[in-house]
Amino acid sequence: MAILNYAGKLILAPMVRSGELPTRLLSLRYGADLVWSPEIVDHKIAICAREPNPRLKAVDFVARYPNKPDQVVLRAHSLERSRLVFQLGTSDPELAVKAATVVAADVAGIDLNAGCPKHFSVHSGSGAGLLKTPDKLVAILEALVAEVGRKFGIGISVKIRILDTPEDTFTLVRRLVKTGISALTVHCRKVPMRPRERAIREGYLAQIAEICHEAGVVCVANGDVYCGGDLERLKKEYGVDSAMIATAAEKNMSCFSASEKEEVRPWREMVCEFLAVAKAVDNNLTNTKYLLRNMLPGKVPERQTMANARDYEQMFEVFQMKKDEGDMKWASIEQLLANMSQSQSQSQSQSESQSQSQSQSQSQSQSSRKREAENGKEIEEEQELRVKRFDGVEQVQSTNNAIAI
Ligand SMILES: Cc1cc2nc3c(=O)[nH]c(=O)nc-3n(C[C@H](O)[C@H](O)[C@H](O)COP(=O)(O)O)c2cc1C
Repeated sequence: MAILNYAGKLILAPMVRSGELPTRLLSLRYGADLVWSPEIVDHKIAICAREPNPRLKAVDFVARYPNKPDQVVLRAHSLERSRLVFQLGTSDPELAVKAATVVAADVAGIDLNAGCPKHFSVHSGSGAGLLKTPDKLVAILEALVAEVGRKFGIGISVKIRILDTPEDTFTLVRRLVKTGISALTVHCRKVPMRPRERAIREGYLAQIAEICHEAGVVCVANGDVYCGGDLERLKKEYGVDSAMIATAAEKNMSCFSASEKEEVRPWREMVCEFLAVAKAVDNNLTNTKYLLRNMLPGKVPERQTMANARDYEQMFEVFQMKKDEGDMKWASIEQLLANMSQSQSQSQSQSESQSQSQSQSQSQSQSSRKREAENGKEIEEEQELRVKRFDGVEQVQSTNNAIAI
């Protein structure tokens, strides 16, 4: 299997609590090409047992503690497998490899979090703490590339924030792209910056993209990306390859298929789909309520009434969904996702066989130029697919009147 191609992609960002399975599946349904898991720290995933969950067509990674109930730390669905990147929080190369190995066979890539500014991360030397210890950061990436990426044939990537000066940032990026990683995401905010502060692209992003390209690494832009249409704008303006969306997707996952940020689907429609998916994959109800709070506008009455709901049936009632409506919605979303992964794997195997025959006869610098051209072609194919994907939903809608997706 070829290593995941990160170029030309719209990506759901890693989000603790918010990036659980329903968010990821609904993002894919609305045009995200790749989805990141929430950050999970090394010692937590390292102790997990891998448990296939055939009823849900998923694999659970379960932590067992002596006097506490079992905890599903990650639920990876078969429909996201080829597009799921697991994000790891770590500050130790050996533990990083141990932890990544637990999930490596069930994901398409491993991403190292080197941007989280929260005290608990920085304090332990992980997240944005790694930006201050570049030797350690490089050592972790090299270990992941050698002992997980190559062994399992999956991508290794890193997500960083910009540093105080462009020069320091470029020096760091020059080191990171030599570690063998396939992609680098840059969250265009400095470590102390709050989410409401504007992302800083000028003076940073275009140069970072250039450094990445010189080394054959895909550059992903993050920070104030709001919709699918932003990908083309960012590519044109800064030369980046891909774009990653966090808070806009947290609020409304249809942002991936919107060409402008205002063009998202109505919140009520999204909430009903979300509930259908959440019930189908047995998402923890408390987490579902938390996620719905992000999706509801202002002070709608449902914000209050859903707090008292004790199960999914009661949640459906709050949003005036009929009993079997959730199952029907899920059936059509599941079908759509299955069609998408089928056509995606076809286009992937085509480009795999092309790149195999090319790589035999070309020097490294030629093949990296070729890769750009291939990426371009694949991007076009992907874009077509994205449009079809959205149309596909419309077709499902029109061929099944009972399902008002
Ligand atoms: C609720 C929430 C949880 C987040 N969790 C993570 C995380 O687990 N790992 C990570 O690298 N960044 C995390 N982030 C940061 C986002 O991935 C992203 O870098 C940031 O929100 C900027 O993107 P935006 O401007 O599209 O929101 C989180 C952000 C939010 C809002």
